[in-house]
Formats: sequence, C-alpha cells, structure tokens
Amino acid sequence: MQAGTEKRGNVYYSDEIIEEVRTRNDIVDVIGASVKLKKSGSSYVGLCPFHNEKSPSFSVSGQKQMYHCFGCGAGGNVITFVMNYENYTFQEALKFLADRAGISLPEEEDSQQNRERRNKRDLLLQVNKDAANYFYVQLRSERGRQGYEYLSGRALTDETIRHFGLGYSNKTAADLAAYLRQKGYSDELLVEAGLCTHDERFGFHDKFWNRVMFPIQDVNHRVIGFGGRVMGDGKPKYLNSPETPVFDKSRNLYGLNFARTSRAGNFILCEGYMDVIAMHQAGFTQAVASLGTAFTSGQASLIRRYVDEVLLAYDSDGAGVNAALRAIGILKEAGLSGRVINMEPHKDPDEFIKAEGRDAFAERIKKAEDGFLFEIRILRRGFDVEDPAQKTKFEMELARRLSQIENEIERENYLTVTAREYYIDPEILRRMVKSLAAAGAQVKPVERPKTASGKKQTAEDNRKKTQRMLLTWITDEPEIYDKIKKYIQAADFTDELYSRVAGLLFDELEAGRCDPAGIISKFEDEEEQRRVAALFHTRLPGIDNEAQKEKALHDIVCAVKQYSYEYYAQRQGTDLNALQQVIASKQALEELLRAHIL
Ligand code: UTP
Ligand code: MN
Repeated sequence: MQAGTEKRGNVYYSDEIIEEVRTRNDIVDVIGASVKLKKSGSSYVGLCPFHNEKSPSFSVSGQKQMYHCFGCGAGGNVITFVMNYENYTFQEALKFLADRAGISLPEEEDSQQNRERRNKRDLLLQVNKDAANYFYVQLRSERGRQGYEYLSGRALTDETIRHFGLGYSNKTAADLAAYLRQKGYSDELLVEAGLCTHDERFGFHDKFWNRVMFPIQDVNHRVIGFGGRVMGDGKPKYLNSPETPVFDKSRNLYGLNFARTSRAGNFILCEGYMDVIAMHQAGFTQAVASLGTAFTSGQASLIRRYVDEVLLAYDSDGAGVNAALRAIGILKEAGLSGRVINMEPHKDPDEFIKAEGRDAFAERIKKAEDGFLFEIRILRRGFDVEDPAQKTKFEMELARRLSQIENEIERENYLTVTAREYYIDPEILRRMVKSLAAAGAQVKPVERPKTASGKKQTAEDNRKKTQRMLLTWITDEPEIYDKIKKYIQAADFTDELYSRVAGLLFDELEAGRCDPAGIISKFEDEEEQRRVAALFHTRLPGIDNEAQKEKALHDIVCAVKQYSYEYYAQRQGTDLNALQQVIASKQALEELLRAHIL
C-alpha cells in the first residue's frame, strides 16, 4: 500500500479525499434516512437494520460519527454503514456519499487497469439489464406467448411476473446476440456475461433459447445473472448463468432484494426460483433460495445481516431432506437457528401453496420442527429400533450429539424431549451424555473462543472490556487524555487491535484532535472495523457525581495498568521489550495507586 492512500478494491483514493467525503456526510442524517432514530442522551437509538430486534439496541453517535449495535455487534462509520446497509463495495459507498455531499471524486487517481476492471463490471451489469429487458419484452410479444401461457398456467399473476421481471428467450438461438451486438456490445463481453457461447457445431449463439427466464438480482435490484427453465420436460430443466465478475453464486440469494425489507423476523429458505415466487405471491415475502447450487456458508452470513432464524422449506423427497440436513449444519455454524417446515404430502412450497393455500402454509410455519429434533428424527429412520443392537447404536449416537451441545440448559432441554419421544430412560441417557462430554473434553481441552453472544465471561473478556471502557471514555471526554497520558500508553492495551487503535487515537489527541470515526477508515477488514467501532461504544459505569467519576476512572486506569503489568511480566523471559514495560508499568502503577487523576 502506498503511504497516504487507501487501496480499496481496485481503486486508490487519498486519505484526504476519503476523509472529506466522510466528514461532509453527517452520520445521523445518513442513517436517519433509513432507520428511525430517537435521541437518547448524547446519541441516538433505533432498531438495528442488521439484525431483527424488537427493542432498540442500535446506537448512533453524532459526536463520534459512528454507529454500534449492542445486540449483534455491527458497527462502523458512515462509509461502513452505507457499505453494509446497501451491500456496496468501498468504492460504491464512497461514490454514493460523495454524490450526496456534492463532491466529485478525482477519476485521474484511477489507474488504467482499475478503470478497465470497473468498467467491465459496469458493462456486465448493463448488458444483463439490457438482456433482461429484451426477455421481458419477448414474453409479452406474440412470439413469447408460449412462455406467458406456461407461467400463467403455473398460477403466476401478471403482477408477479412483472414484480420478478420474468421473461422469455426465443426459439431462434441468435436473436439476443443480434440485439445486443446492435446495441454495441462486443462478442467477448456477451460470452463473458454468460449470455452467449461459441462452439464448433453452432458457431456463436445464445446460451438461453426457448426458455422462460428468471433474472437473478442482487440486493440492489441489479441483474447479475439468469436462470432459464424449459417449458416441459426437456433437459436440463434449469439452465443457469455461469459465475462472472458480477455473479457470485455463493454470496447472493434469489429473492433477497425483496426479502430484506420483509418484517417477518425470519427468512424462508427454499430450493427453487419457482418456490420463492409462489411464496412471495402468497404473501410470504421473506422467502429466498440459493442459485442452482447448494446452500453455502457465505449465504448464511449474508442472511445473518437481516435475521437470526431460518425456516427451511425444502423438497419433501430424499434429496430435499439431505439438503436440509446440510443446510442446518451450515446455519448452526453461522450462529443461526434453523427450523424445518413439513411440506408433506406435497413436493415443494410451490405445490403446497397451490394445493392448500396461504393459511395452511402459515400453519405449517408455526409448526416448523426444531433443527436438532429434525436431525434426530431423520437419524432414527436409519435404525431398526426393534433390534436391541440397532436401538443401542441409535441411542449412543443420540447421546453423542447431545454431548456436543455446549449450553447446559439447552442440552438438558433436548435431552428431556428426545428421551420422552424415543422412550429412553432420561437418567441413563443423561449419564451417557455426561461421560461422553467428559471424554470429549479430554480429547480437546482447548475451549472454543466465546463469541460476543457467548454466555461465559472469562478473565480475558473482563480484561478486554476494561480496556474498551477506557478507550470509550477517552473518546467521550477527550479532556481526560491529558490527565492519564503519563500513566497509560498504547502498549498497555494487550490486544493487538486495541493497541493499534490506541496508538492512532493518542497520536491524534497529541495533535489536538479526536476523530474516532476517521480511525475506522484505516482498517480494511470488515470484521476489524466492527471491532474498532465496538471499542468506542462500550457501556460505561453510571456516574452521579464528581467523586464517583474520579473513583470509576481511577479504577479503570489502574486495572488497565495492572493487566498490562501482569501481561508483560509473563512474557519477560521471551520478549526483551517486556522487561522495559514491566519496570515502567510497576513505577506508574505505584504512583497511580496514590494519585488523583481528575
Ligand atoms: P427443482 O427441480 O426442485 O425445481 O430444482 P423446482 O424449483 O421445483 O422447479 P419447477 O417447479 O419444476 O419449475 C430446484 C432448483 O434447483 C436448480 C434451480 O435453481 C431450481 O430452482 N436446478 C434444478 C438447476 O439449476 N438445474 C436443474 O436442471 C434443476
Ligand atoms: Mn417445483
């Protein structure tokens, strides 16, 4: 990276221009345009747009020009907000905010190669949009009548066909190519977009022909690819666009552009495009589907931005059940809870809705089966429980899976329910689970790091929390920096990220500035940006008077210094700097214990 410039994606912008764009867009105004905010003390609160919640834990600070959610941990400055809320890249967000503030971004900083790459993306989006329009018009023309009849025969209304931008590709396999060429697109681009192919037998021709077309849109309603279905029994049933620079199948979901604004509080994950469309038509606008490929962990993290519960509406056949089992595992790993909707006796959501209607489906949603219980029910099918040996095997496997549930209350609840369901003595099952858990603990003694939502607070968590409180306090009241700087240095923050942030913040304070939101822009990684935002948004102890404040601040500074001392003392043998730190810390700590800070 060049000094003084930030490489984001493919474009270099100077720190100055990034800072200008950021500071000319007030975060309260920008977020307030999409999230309802209420003043609360020195900041604003509202319902978090990145996860579903009933009571507001999303906080926006005008003074710090940052946001942070105490619920899901989302956080950042005005640029990261636009990136996450609109699903924009850094450049797109910067462009959006620059336009909003009437700043023109200097194009000349762009290298030739970067410009070409960006132009390529724009071109691909443009050609997809033109192709989608072409298919759309064809569907409404005489030549597209077969397609239109097919779709209405599947009970889609005109409104639904319009809403999803459905279309039709003609029987002639050359007319889209002709149309797009005449619009000035090169053959190479048409191939790269996956709209045309070239082979020996047919020469240059359309990839999709004689199919009803489903444009696939990203969250911003831009067409990034297509699925095309044969009207009848031909093979393959669905043909999909290949991956392109604008079409990443593992990070987009069909229907997400609409589902993201549904207030249902969950997503319904289906297998097919038609399922999604049928569900939306029936009013379940929270339905999404993966894109002709299996559900991925990238899609799970995408979902986690919006909801924390997913209802699986997969096909009721064997393949659907296997896909559901895999999806439950992926959801669990992403920290999402999964439940399974029973579609029997119908094949898929589309057929269910057609046969039984929306109320019956709403009823099935209510009765959706817990993901773990679904897994166990399917597991049991594989054993003949009349046979004692097989019954034992099933129960052992059940015990093993129960033993993997970390939360004790949760484990106990599942144990009670499964014991009852499968006629197992709960005491015996509990003993089995305990011994397996103990054996498991011996095999892997390392405790998994607890996430923000984790329950257990370790000494390490407390230590970091104290360090965060100090950084938050300093950004709340920059005046205190002068009072504590003789005791606290950046190195006293024992987490690497904390210490980097403290270093940047202290440099600014030395120069008489305090601009925590600007510090966020110095971190590229989204996860880091969230963590930096959290550093400046830690809850501070309630304070009624000056004496309490003095004591609280004194305690925090002492604690941070004490931890730092212990931390470096442990490393004395291996780290030369540590010895220096230890000596300095010890002196500062002794002085500090006697001193008044304020
Ligand atoms: P299904 O075969 O379950 O189709 O495939 P469906 O959604 O019920 O379709 P209809 O109702 O017969 O029209 C589910 C999904 O799997 C992908 C598609 O994304 C489809 O929506 N798929 C299926 C393909 O990509 N190619 C295929 O040949 C078949
Ligand atoms: Mn179907």
